[in-house]
Amino acid sequence: MAQAIAFLLNGAVETVSDVPPTTTLLQYLRRHKGLTGTKEGCAEGDCGACTVALGDPSGDGALRHRAANACVLFLPMVHGRTVTTVEGLGRAAGAGPNGADLHPVSRAFVDYHASQCGFCTPGFVMSAYAAWLEGEPLHKRSVDDLLAGNLCRCTGYGPIIDATLALNGAPPPGEDRAVAKETARRLQNAAYAGSLAYENGGQRWFGPTGLNELADLYEAHPDATIVAGATDVGLWVTKQHRRLDTVIDIGRVRALNELTATGDTLRIGAGVTCTDAFDAIAGRWPDFGELLRRFGGRQVRNAATIGGNIANGSPIGDSPPALIALGATLVLRKGKARRRLPLEAFFLDYGRQDRQPGEFVEAIEIPLDTGAEELKCYKISKRFDQDISALCGCFNLRIEDGAVASMRIAFGGMAATPKRASAVETALWGKPWTEETVTAALPAFAEDFTPIDDMRASAGYRLLAAQNLLRRCFHESRRPLRETRLVGREAAFA
Ligand SMILES: Cc1cc2nc3c(=O)[nH]c(=O)nc-3n(C[C@H](O)[C@H](O)[C@H](O)COP(=O)(O)OP(=O)(O)OC[C@H]3O[C@@H](n4cnc5c(N)ncnc54)[C@H](O)[C@@H]3O)c2cc1C
Ligand code: FES
Ligand code: FES
Repeated sequence: MAQAIAFLLNGAVETVSDVPPTTTLLQYLRRHKGLTGTKEGCAEGDCGACTVALGDPSGDGALRHRAANACVLFLPMVHGRTVTTVEGLGRAAGAGPNGADLHPVSRAFVDYHASQCGFCTPGFVMSAYAAWLEGEPLHKRSVDDLLAGNLCRCTGYGPIIDATLALNGAPPPGEDRAVAKETARRLQNAAYAGSLAYENGGQRWFGPTGLNELADLYEAHPDATIVAGATDVGLWVTKQHRRLDTVIDIGRVRALNELTATGDTLRIGAGVTCTDAFDAIAGRWPDFGELLRRFGGRQVRNAATIGGNIANGSPIGDSPPALIALGATLVLRKGKARRRLPLEAFFLDYGRQDRQPGEFVEAIEIPLDTGAEELKCYKISKRFDQDISALCGCFNLRIEDGAVASMRIAFGGMAATPKRASAVETALWGKPWTEETVTAALPAFAEDFTPIDDMRASAGYRLLAAQNLLRRCFHESRRPLRETRLVGREAAFA
């Protein structure tokens, strides 16, 4: 078992044993390595100024690169991975000392004048770099999506988008990929591949790789903080200055990173990120896919797990309403014992979930045998991209012979927990699927929900918006699919 944090930083071996485990990658890069190209803007995952590319060994012996926010990533989380910062780009492409031979991604940003004060530029370059290296098709819509997690105060975005689009015609990343392949081989070394147990300054960090190992560890340390993607926990440290004495990182537990469709169930391991769950979810439930696409920015989705989105118990998490509407089951594990419960039963009250000390979320199981059901999801937020929901409503409906054969409705942002709209469901079940039925069901929203006023929306707005979402669901269910998909930004450009 490794007792030092080992990773490859811009291709060079980095072995760390002298910093507290809750040091962020950003702090380490800037303060310990002098790599100040990676900037700190917000320290909470919002602005993308700290974006770096993380490389993970993938099954085919290559490296898979993803953009990550270094400000909310604890250093031990990069154990066994590669970190490329903006300073590493010159090295990756063999750039000359005076910038005469810039890396193709940096070159595009120069050619298109995509930088003014330059503060955000390394973050944008690294987001574009990770996508270019992975061979991602870059077109207008995908580039908007790719860069939504990077903010710029100066350029107005046009030149940045043009520079990124220009990478379609840039030299292919052959040389960088060859380096990445060689790097992946180096990561097979036992110093990187196994579990991690790290301690510094009285703080302990465990990074198990086996599921039973995790279960035993958490049972032995029920007071430990579990970390998955750290898109919540990172902020406890950077913003609330909390000290975490014992941390168990589940990100390296292989079994939790599995996503499998077997027979009638889609099983999502608790460590599966929003990015990795996207294809399986969007392919089956396009609206749920759209919900995930609007979940934070790209860097957040690359780290945030579906399990963490449930376990944090947030009333405004985006995946629980969709999962509850789909009838998902939560699998909890404590030691050797497993139990299953309907997801809605997990949320007891604000900040209180049905989870025992030493018990963790192992997986989420979604029934696939939904027959003629259709899932409709709506996220209402002040900004289209990279914003938390004011409310989020999900409707899983089956209409047979013009009547409501089944209806499961769940909302986030309407109560202290994600919650089913049981009274509204009762008002709809078995009734003709008509405007009159929908109108008659609207008062039932006040039986189900007593929303609060806060900075995201007033109680009155929330209640009215929720009712209107049922109306919208009704009208969209009677229109062709293509038309109903045109929402938000797409509708604006249609
Ligand atoms: C900039 C930004 C934008 C965001 N945008 C959105 C958004 O649009 N929609 C949204 O819903 N959320 C959003 N979030 C919140 C956050 O990204 C999500 O809640 C995310 O799913 C949390 O997952 P994680 O893996 O990062 O959890 P972590 O931060 O690692 O953990 C979160 C909590 O869950 C616990 N936990 C994690 N995994 C387990 C497990 N397997 N078993 C038991 N406990 C566990 C941790 O102990 C902690 O209490 C955003 C966050 C940021 C920083
Ligand atoms: S500093 Fe803003 S996202 Fe990291
Ligand atoms: S160039 Fe100044 S913040 Fe983007």
